Amino acid sequence: MRFVLAATGASGAIYLQRLLDRLAAGGHEVHLLLSKYARVVVAEELPGGLRVPPGIKEWRGDASMHVPFASGSARFDGMAVVPCSMGTLARIAHGTSETTILRAADVFLKERRRLVLVPRESPFSLIHARNLVAALEVGAIVVPAMPAFYHRPQTVEEVADTVVFRVLDHLGVPAEDAPKWQEAPAAGE
Ligand SMILES: Cc1cc2nc3c(=O)[nH]c(=O)nc-3n(C[C@H](O)[C@H](O)[C@H](O)COP(=O)(O)O)c2cc1C
Repeated sequence: MRFVLAATGASGAIYLQRLLDRLAAGGHEVHLLLSKYARVVVAEELPGGLRVPPGIKEWRGDASMHVPFASGSARFDGMAVVPCSMGTLARIAHGTSETTILRAADVFLKERRRLVLVPRESPFSLIHARNLVAALEVGAIVVPAMPAFYHRPQTVEEVADTVVFRVLDHLGVPAEDAPKWQEAPAAGE
C-alpha cells in the first residue's frame, strides 16, 4: 500500500519512529515528511535522531508542491500525521494548504481518503477542542496520542505501540501481534 507519513512539532517522536518501522517492515511504500518543528522535537526526544529505514522515501523540506501526493490524481491509500501539533490540526481543519504537509492533508480530505491525525496536547483549550470537531466533521480520523495500560505494557516502546497499533488499524494495515481485548470478564467483574 502507498502512504504519506507526516510528522509535526508535537511531543511523541517515538510514535513516528515505531510507525515508520512497522510500515517499512510491512513492505509498504512510505513517503515521509517532517515539518521544521518536527525536526526540533525529534532532536529533543530521540537519542541518535530518527532512523529512516531503507526503502522509505523522505522528502526534504515542507514547502514543495512538486510531490505526487499534492495532487488528487496520484493514488494513495492513506496519510497519517504523527504526532500532530495543535497548530497543524488547526490548519488542516481550515484547509490552509500552504505547506506540503497541509496540502497533502487537504488533498486526502477532498479525495475522501484516509487521513489519520494523532494530536498531542494537554490540557485542551476550547480552540483545540473546536478544531478537533472541525477535523472530524470534514472526515479526518482522530487517534489521540493517549496510550492504554490495560495490557500492562512493560516498556516505553510497548506503551507507544498502544497508540501505533490504533493508527495502523485506521490506515487499514492492522498489526497481527497487536494485543486484543479479552472478551472473558476479568477477575472481580
Ligand atoms: C520540544 C517541543 C515540544 C512541543 N510539544 C508540543 C505538543 O506536544 N503539542 C503541540 O501542539 N505543540 C507542541 N510544540 C509546539 C509546536 O512545535 C509549535 O506550535 C509549532 O509551530 C508547530 O508547527 P508544525 O505543526 O508546523 O510542526 C512543541 C514544541 C517543541 C519545541
